[in-house]
Amino acid sequence: MILPVYIYGQPVLRQEAELVTKDYEGLNELIKNMKETMYASNGIGIAAPQVGVSLKLVFIDVDVLKEDFPELKGVQMVLINPEVTVDENSPKVTREEGCLSVPGISENVTRHSKIHLKWTDENWVEHEKDIEGYLARVVQHECDHLDGHMFIDWISAIRKQLIRTKLSNMIKGKTRCSYKAKFFNSKKK
Ligand code: NI
Repeated sequence: MILPVYIYGQPVLRQEAELVTKDYEGLNELIKNMKETMYASNGIGIAAPQVGVSLKLVFIDVDVLKEDFPELKGVQMVLINPEVTVDENSPKVTREEGCLSVPGISENVTRHSKIHLKWTDENWVEHEKDIEGYLARVVQHECDHLDGHMFIDWISAIRKQLIRTKLSNMIKGKTRCSYKAKFFNSKKK
């Protein structure tokens, strides 16, 4: 089922998400719905808070970027309770980012290029891996959502000032969005 994407202004996007427990009912269903929602909105990653569920759960599929980043071919991950440790010694890289919860805005974000990631997959198998390059960026972006952060938190004060009106329109539900979305202040249900 395609779920509405929660848009900037929705309080769930600013909450610290809860750990997923093994007895959480409907986990497989939720993962399936997150995948469908992400593909329907042409995203490359989605975090549970973006569909209104405050859980530490992420789905990533970056295969679509394989032309530019051959190493991303076939890369698809379900991250349950991920823990990111940024390698503070790794070079910082600046690239444009966007987010399904912030439609129509993309901005440069500077991030470290290497991370260490611990996570549990959908079969409750634990993993641990060093990740670098573009995937490290996507993982950081998605896992930020689990801490109540969004990429616009990391942009310069000047850029933030420039998108201020767009963001306040978003809170008011005055933003156009090509996929099913749930605005904070929309009269439409
Ligand atoms: Ni995002």
